[in-house]
Amino acid sequence: MKSVAAPLGWVSTLVAGAIAAASYPAIPVDRTSPTQQRIAVKGPNSVAVGWNTYQQLSNPCVQYGTSSSNLASSACSTTSITYPHSRTYGNTVVLSDLTPGTTYYYKITSTNSTIEHFLSPRPAGDTGAFSFNAVIDLGVYGTDGYTIKANNAKRDTIPLIDPSLNHTTIGRLANTIDDYEFVVHPGDLGYADDWLLSPKNLFDGTDAYAAIVERFYGQLAPISGRKPYMVGPGNHEANCQEIPLTQILCAAGQKNFTDFMNRFADLMPTTFASRSTNDTARIKANAAQVLANPPFWYSFEYGMLHFVMLNTETDFASAPDAPGGSAGLNSGPFGSTADQQLAFLEADLASVDRAVTPWLIVGGHRPWYTTGGSGCDPCRAAFEPLLYKYGVDLAIFGHVHNSQRFQPVYQGVADAKGLQDPAAPMYIVAGGAGNIEGLSDVGTKQAYNAFAYADDFSYARVSLLDTNQLQVQFIHSTTGQVLDQSVLYKSHSTRFVVQ
Ligand SMILES: *[C@@H]1O[C@H](CO)[C@@H](O)[C@H](O)[C@H]1NC(C)=O
Ligand SMILES: *[C@@H]1O[C@H](CO)[C@@H](O)[C@H](O)[C@H]1NC(C)=O
Ligand SMILES: *[C@@H]1O[C@H](CO)[C@@H](O)[C@H](O)[C@H]1NC(C)=O
Ligand SMILES: *[C@@H]1O[C@H](CO)[C@@H](O)[C@H](O)[C@H]1NC(C)=O
Repeated sequence: MKSVAAPLGWVSTLVAGAIAAASYPAIPVDRTSPTQQRIAVKGPNSVAVGWNTYQQLSNPCVQYGTSSSNLASSACSTTSITYPHSRTYGNTVVLSDLTPGTTYYYKITSTNSTIEHFLSPRPAGDTGAFSFNAVIDLGVYGTDGYTIKANNAKRDTIPLIDPSLNHTTIGRLANTIDDYEFVVHPGDLGYADDWLLSPKNLFDGTDAYAAIVERFYGQLAPISGRKPYMVGPGNHEANCQEIPLTQILCAAGQKNFTDFMNRFADLMPTTFASRSTNDTARIKANAAQVLANPPFWYSFEYGMLHFVMLNTETDFASAPDAPGGSAGLNSGPFGSTADQQLAFLEADLASVDRAVTPWLIVGGHRPWYTTGGSGCDPCRAAFEPLLYKYGVDLAIFGHVHNSQRFQPVYQGVADAKGLQDPAAPMYIVAGGAGNIEGLSDVGTKQAYNAFAYADDFSYARVSLLDTNQLQVQFIHSTTGQVLDQSVLYKSHSTRFVVQ
């Protein structure tokens, strides 16, 4: 969300004598040392590995295998890219032909790297139960971010984790790392554009932005280097900061989603080839694959789940971050035609065969159902009809800094069936993960709101229990307490929902 007025209060105090200083992490002596490790579900049998280095690599490589003592396979690429005002190079390598649902060990090739591991994706159609976390509006911790209570003892011995780790959500994700299989994070990642909220950065904004990017993705690495971390765009990825009048001052490389694109474009997937026996579904999935535009909009399949990532920032009518849009962020478009995203969405949703992937879940940044009256109306106009038409089961948003759950609802009217096989999608907001802007008040609740919480940091855990039952829990980041729990029942008796 926005924070326009906040910085102004301290300016006069500051001008009196502070020395500006961005807080960059130390550059490793061995500049091939991998930092900011991240992995993603890339295809039906493939995982992409991304990391940054403080020098360009001519041939980034990853060794991997199913035994930590025998990393028999190796994959390489020539992708080692940077952009203006970044100190690092982003490297991406895709590991293909993996056996599904199997623990793999991997070592990023470097004179200074260690062995990590991940679980390869479940194949589409696998009906085993699993959980994923929805974490949105997270933010860096430390001097440029939001730091709160010290963390409890860790359950897992994750290498690299900072002993002072006290961002409660990142800490909780580390403590519970064996309890979930991947993370979805639709937007507002490190909040580098909020550098101005730390007075010391006032005269050093370009470096402060770059420093927060480096620190945040370093802090996330113990999670994102082990669990597929599936991202989408939020307003805080768009530009160097959100005050419209000063955006002309944004340095090259700090506008128009540049870091987000460089970091994630090669890492995120396109639509998977359909495993349906229905020719039309396969043709639609192929069309969606061509129209997908990762990391802005894409889909993937994982066991019982077909997941679609939306872009609520640009690329639809009156999109808030588009040139001339309401947010003043002057970004995009990213499609080669104005309707590419919506054409993708329609083809992708129409391709979903519930006999293969019964659960259809959508993630995006800006909600249209939210308490407190700050929903995105252009997003609703663009996306709600399609989500309803194709029977989306659950839609996950953030942007508003708290946790909310809604009864299944369409056009502002609660579905009379509630959680028992509704036609309308169920909506949640999972934006309370914690960032320098703090939490948002719950505000006024609609009659169809079922839960709203803004007392402390929290996030959502989504569990696909079986082909008919989906559990959503909101987790208190510090204590792990379950704040709210619901189970949505869907019969999934229609293979291709059109309503
Ligand atoms: C090796 O990598 C570790 C972990 O990233 C880092 O802390 C250390 O500084 C690196 N060592 C050298 C010699 O660069
Ligand atoms: C968070 O960690 C930092 C670094 O160790 C420490 O200085 C700070 O006091 C901690 N904050 C709280 C509230 O524990
Ligand atoms: C095949 O899939 C399309 C949607 O892609 C659907 O409209 C049609 O009803 C399906 N046919 C059968 C026989 O299920
Ligand atoms: C942002 O980047 C995209 C893709 O590179 C480009 O098409 C678009 O024109 C850019 N938008 C602005 C406002 O510079």
